[in-house]
Formats: sequence, C-alpha cells, structure tokens
Amino acid sequence: MNVLLVGFIFIVEILSVFQCANILFFAGAPSKSHQVMFQPVFKELSLRGHNVTAIVCSPLKDPKLTNLTEIDLGGLYEIVYKEGNEVREAMKKYIQLKPDLLTVFSKDMVLKNIYHQFGKYILDMPQMQTFLKEDHKFDVVIVEWLYPTFAALAAKYDAPLIGITSLGAPILALDTVGNPSHPVLAPDQDLPMPRDLTFKERLMSGLYAVYVRVYYHLVVLPREDALARKHFGKDIPYLGDIEKNISLLLLNRNLVFHKVMPVVPAIIELGYMNTNKSVGKMDPELQDFMDKSRNGVVYFSLGSNVQVLELPKDKLNAILNTFKNIKYDVVFKINKDTLDNKPKNVLTRKWVPQGAILKHKNTKLFITQGGLQSCDETIINQVPVIAIPFIFDQITNADRLAKYGMGKYLDYEDITEEILTEYINEVITKPSYKKNAIILSKLYTDQPTDALEKAIWWIEYVIRHKGASHLRYPSSDLPLYQYLMLDVLFLVFLALSILIFILIIIVKLCICLSRKMFETKTKKE
Ligand SMILES: *[C@@H]1O[C@H](CO)[C@@H](O)[C@H](O)[C@H]1NC(C)=O
Ligand SMILES: *[C@@H]1O[C@H](CO)[C@@H](O)[C@H](O)[C@H]1NC(C)=O
Repeated sequence: MNVLLVGFIFIVEILSVFQCANILFFAGAPSKSHQVMFQPVFKELSLRGHNVTAIVCSPLKDPKLTNLTEIDLGGLYEIVYKEGNEVREAMKKYIQLKPDLLTVFSKDMVLKNIYHQFGKYILDMPQMQTFLKEDHKFDVVIVEWLYPTFAALAAKYDAPLIGITSLGAPILALDTVGNPSHPVLAPDQDLPMPRDLTFKERLMSGLYAVYVRVYYHLVVLPREDALARKHFGKDIPYLGDIEKNISLLLLNRNLVFHKVMPVVPAIIELGYMNTNKSVGKMDPELQDFMDKSRNGVVYFSLGSNVQVLELPKDKLNAILNTFKNIKYDVVFKINKDTLDNKPKNVLTRKWVPQGAILKHKNTKLFITQGGLQSCDETIINQVPVIAIPFIFDQITNADRLAKYGMGKYLDYEDITEEILTEYINEVITKPSYKKNAIILSKLYTDQPTDALEKAIWWIEYVIRHKGASHLRYPSSDLPLYQYLMLDVLFLVFLALSILIFILIIIVKLCICLSRKMFETKTKKE
C-alpha cells in the first residue's frame, strides 16, 4: 500500500516538474549564418517534448520532428537577393561604404531601414497573416534580437519574452536589459575599432553612443511601433516598453574571443555552439578534391552577406591571379554556378559544408570575412586564417584572430596579388600561426557546458518561473538624471558652493576685524 502511494506521488512529482510548454520562436534575418545558429535551439526544444512553433527563414523541414511546426519565411531570401530590389541595393551600399567618422552614422540609418523593410516583407507574407489570425497560446516567445518589431509577438500572446542573437549585441540590445556599455571600454560591436582606441576613435565611439540612442528612440522605435500596431493589434503597449519587458537576452558571445565586459544577470553568454557535432556532408567531387590535394587546400569564403564576385574588378583579378600562381589547391565559395577563366587548381561552389572542409586534414588556411560563425568553426578546427573584414562585427572579430596570432588581418582595399600571395605563404609555412590556433581553440572551448545546453536550460527556466523580472538590473528603467546622479551631484555642488561662500565671508570678516584691531593697536601706540 505504502509503496503504491510513494510510487503515485513520485509519478505526480515527475509530471509536475516536466512541463510541456508552447514555445514561439521567431528569427527574421534572411542570413544563413544567423539561421544556422538558431536551428539547433528550436530543434532541441522540440525534441525535449515542447510544442514549438518556429517562424524562420531557414526551416529544418524534417518530418521526424513531430513537435515542431514551422512557418517558412524563406521567400525573404529571394526577395532581398533579387537584382534591383531596393533592399539588395541598400545592402550593397552598406557593405561598400567604408565606416569612418562621417559615414558611420549614415550607415546605421541605412541598416535600420533595411531591417524595417525585412519586417514589412515578413508581415505582408500570406503565411504570416494566416498565422496571426489563428488562435494560439504561448508560454514563452523567443525573438531574434536584431530589430524590435517582432518583440510585439510577446505582447500579442501575453507571454514572457526572450531575445536571442547569433552574434554579440549592439548597444541598443544591451540597453534593453540595462547592461552598462562604456563607449571607450566597450564600443559598439559594429564600430570599426580594432585596437586600443585613439583619441579620434574615442570621440567617434562617444558620439556614436549618443547618436544611436537618440535616432533609435526618436525615429526607429516609433516607426516600428506603428508597423507592429498595424499587424499585432492597436491595443498592445508601446514597443519600447514591450522591448524593455524582456526576461533574458541570450548572446552568442564567448568570454575568450569577445571583448571582456561586465554583464548583468539577464544576459546569458552562450559561449560557443559546438558546430562540430553536426558538420554537413561534402559532395563526392569536393570530397575527392580535398582528399587528393597534394600540397594542401586554401578555403576561401566571404560568407553569406558579402558577394565576392561583386567586388571591384581589380580586387577580384588580384584574388584570381593569386590562386593561379600558388602551389595550393583552392576551394572558392562564390554566388554563381560557374566562373570564367577559372584556374585549374580552383574548385568553385555556391554552397559548401564549411564545417566539414575546416575539419578536413588537408585544409591549411581559411580566407574569411571574419563573420562570427566562421570564426567559431575555424577556431574549433584550429585552422589559421587571413581575415578580410567588411561589415558588422567582422572588423573586431578579424582583429581578435590576428591579436591571438592565429592569422593575419587584411584590409580589402590593400588586396593585391603580391600581398595576398605573401600572406598565404607566410600563414601556411610559419608554424606560430597553427600553434596559436591550437592555444586559442583550447581556451575557447574550455567551458562547463556548450551553448545549446545553456540556451535550453535558461529558456526552460523562464518557462518554469513565467518570466525573469527578478533578474532585471534596473539601470535602463531609471530616468537619465537619476542614473547619472545629476540631482545628487547638483545638491552636493550647491552645498559645497554655499559652504565655500560662507567660508569666504568668514575669512573676509576675520581679515577685516584683524585689520581694525591692528589699526586701533597702532593708533594707541
Ligand atoms: C514529442 O513530445 C513528446 C512529449 O510531449 C516526446 O515524448 C517525444 O519524444 C517528442 N517527439 C519528438 C520526435 O520530438
Ligand atoms: C510584461 O510581461 C508580462 C508577461 O510576462 C505581461 O503580463 C505584461 O503585460 C508585459 N508588459 C508590457 C509593458 O509589455
């Protein structure tokens, strides 16, 4: 009897501890490198028995995942990569505009507008409109924390909100959880500021930190709020308030690789995604090319945002001539099926299983744009690099790789056949680059758990406690004058002034008195 009772209680306990939750996952950036980082997260949540709805640009489409419903935003790739599309043109402009004191502000405006267009395209898609009309209940809403519009999903379903990024976070994202971001110690990750800051860079970072917030609150938020209100209902709270109601921010930051900065408890630094667990498969021709290479393979890819064939002619020719004249074989990722005048030692592909190539024993060097996913994979596989950064955090990442001595930083304006050839030969033949890659790799992966475990644990934590407002660091909720302690400083200043004033009067009085005494004394004499 007792045994039965204990057994019964045990089963009830288990059932009450394990909750199947309804989870909404949204990732709206039409960029493979972002999407690839999110796929394991919503897949794993569904495997653990949660009922997951994923609205994403790159769905998994795996019929075995029975607890996963996907709404495919893949059409967004076609829209924004079509020649002549306004977003495509804006993107090109954004990539080729070199950031400096003047352009850094206009670049940000271009980018925010691109995000706005993404949001509009997504919300106009029929599958999205159907979904919004249906009746759903969610226990948590997880949103890619790139632009604020879709945070409104949390308000629509009255559920706790979690932000996730495939990168670190820009200042604005840090602001939503109240994380301090000092413009000199931790400049915005999108700013092109590789090394210890010069005065000009400190000035730029300081001005940028003010500008980006003013522009966001005066222009971006009201614009996105209007868009959200149109599609998620007129009665939702102001988008800026929804955004600040966030429970957690999961960032793909690594303690070793990213700039060290203090983080509040609501920020979870995921560390690293163990991408080596599931590397893709090479097609037979590629596999053969890799296996049979006599002197080793150079792998060249500028990722999914920068199209190498769109680089200025002289740069592209310098790259191709270099390939022709080196003794190594080259796997060249381009955005076309064929390449005119392709050198014999070059194999081109539109898509490559990057992890598998980097893992291959014949890979000697990775020439990369320094996107975070590429850095992650090359560090894990200990492959030295030449980093040619263009946008976003690529400049900072490329600089980190060079600083750790696992490769060289090459400004794309400096590309010539001579320099590229020299760099390739140096990085492959000098042993220090490989040695440093091994050292960094060990530091990078030495963590208590991998990113996926951490992400799942914290998402379930928010589900269990219906939010995490108890973790909130309230700095962003204070009025600015209180945060900067202006009222306190004013009072102290006032009190000091009064004190000094009184002191001056006393001193003056004393001088006066003593003079009088002195005068009367001399008169008597
Ligand atoms: C689906 O969820 C159930 C629990 O609700 C779980 O037992 C099962 O393993 C899950 N199936 C898959 C394929 O994820
Ligand atoms: C904040 O989130 C909770 C649910 O977690 C919700 O009840 C509340 O209305 C939200 N407030 C705003 C301003 O979004």
